[in-house]
Amino acid sequence: MKIKHLLLISGFIAILTILYAFTSKATITDKVMNESEWKNLKVLPSTISNDSLKTLMKGYNKALGVKCNYCHSEDPNGKKGELDFASDSKKEKEFARHMILMTRKINAENFNWQNSPDPEKIDVVSCTMCHRGTAKPSESLR
Ligand code: HEC
Ligand code: HEC
Repeated sequence: MKIKHLLLISGFIAILTILYAFTSKATITDKVMNESEWKNLKVLPSTISNDSLKTLMKGYNKALGVKCNYCHSEDPNGKKGELDFASDSKKEKEFARHMILMTRKINAENFNWQNSPDPEKIDVVSCTMCHRGTAKPSESLR
């Protein structure tokens, strides 16, 4: 009986280990996200957590209907498809910075009803509100 239990438990642990090995299989995203220090943040807070940055970036993907590589370029020294998130070589990334600042300004200047001491953090207007799943809202939403 006891041995059967032990076998069951060790079998269970083995399955968990295998599952873990699969889920933690470093996708590009996971690997970079685990770095605790960002290399090239110019408009987002430099202390932003991995989780918050990840959520934000996934939000951009959804808002614009794109993948990470729409703004981030491939790492010439990395494996195929591996992105260099700190690189500024895509103009879309630089434009996105401009958009982040614009969105912040729209909110701070027009939607600060409560006289917030931190108007930069208001998010009444968001990327999604204009983009609605497309990178070019002016073309698709006329
Ligand atoms: C619409 C454009 C856009 C998309 C799509 C996008 N990003 Fe970003 N990402 C940016 C911008 C802009 C910055 C730099 C922000 C700054 O300068 O403060 C950035 C910064 C980063 C950084 C920090 C790099 C560093 O160390 O400086 C990581 C990591 C990152 N993005 C990951 C991702 C991942 C993963 C995805 C897909 C899930 C993604 N991004 C999708 C625009 C984008
Ligand atoms: C007030 C509306 C509005 C908001 C808010 C907004 N955008 Fe935009 N964005 C536009 C328009 C309009 C364009 C011009 C592209 C077009 O439609 O031709 C654009 C273009 C872009 C482009 C360049 C696309 C290309 O390849 O030409 C990126 C990248 C982008 N936006 C990212 C963002 C991100 C990230 C946010 C949120 C932080 C955001 N935008 C918020 C309206 C908006």
